[in-house]
Amino acid sequence: MKKRIVCLMAAGIMAGVSAAALAANNPDTINLKEKFSIKGKKAAVIFPHKMHQEKLKCIDCHASEKGGPLKVKIEKTKGMSNDFHKKFCWPCHVAKKVPKGKSCSTCHKKK
Ligand code: HEC
Ligand code: HEC
Ligand code: HEC
Repeated sequence: MKKRIVCLMAAGIMAGVSAAALAANNPDTINLKEKFSIKGKKAAVIFPHKMHQEKLKCIDCHASEKGGPLKVKIEKTKGMSNDFHKKFCWPCHVAKKVPKGKSCSTCHKKK
């Protein structure tokens, strides 16, 4: 009896933790300026992650289907020729013909 209660409690705790971990791990939006500690004057890019997840496959952007590291290594984050523009966001927006996919205000939204 005692053992069973302990088991149930453990299961309950694990379920709670994994749900919370999932929510924290799979946010609707990601502030990329914050996440990559970028200092610059352009308005922070709040990346609509969930919207992209719904339209694309994880491996269109991530090295693995489970998420984790991106396919493209983001090293240069300063100035106009940063890796987000040149290697990640822009090439796909151009390839997929996203309307205004390279317009500054599509991604850098003033609050
Ligand atoms: C498809 C999305 C996207 C578009 C369109 C875009 N950017 Fe960016 N840009 C980013 C991301 C992502 C970063 C890195 C995260 C951040 O700085 O918030 C960035 C960073 C920058 C940076 C370096 C960081 C800083 O604040 O100085 C500059 C400068 C910049 N962008 C200027 C522009 C200008 C000017 C345009 C329009 C010609 C533009 N961007 C269009 C996504 C975009
Ligand atoms: C259009 C590109 C794109 C697609 C498609 C995409 N992601 Fe992401 N994802 C990103 C970017 C950009 C980040 C933020 C940068 C980073 O964490 O290195 C990110 C971050 C994440 C994170 C970490 C969140 C955090 O804040 O720590 C997880 C987990 C994740 N993605 C899972 C997924 C899964 C699972 C899928 C498919 C269902 C998916 N992603 C599809 C671009 C994408
Ligand atoms: C692998 C392809 C791919 C990559 C990489 C990608 N995008 Fe997109 N993005 C799309 C597509 C496709 C759409 C259009 C979705 C739609 O509305 O049908 C889109 C649309 C958007 C929009 C417009 C959303 C709206 O509500 O209209 C924003 C903002 C955006 N992307 C930001 C980014 C930023 C910032 C990055 C880089 C960090 C990025 N995207 C990288 C494919 C991509």
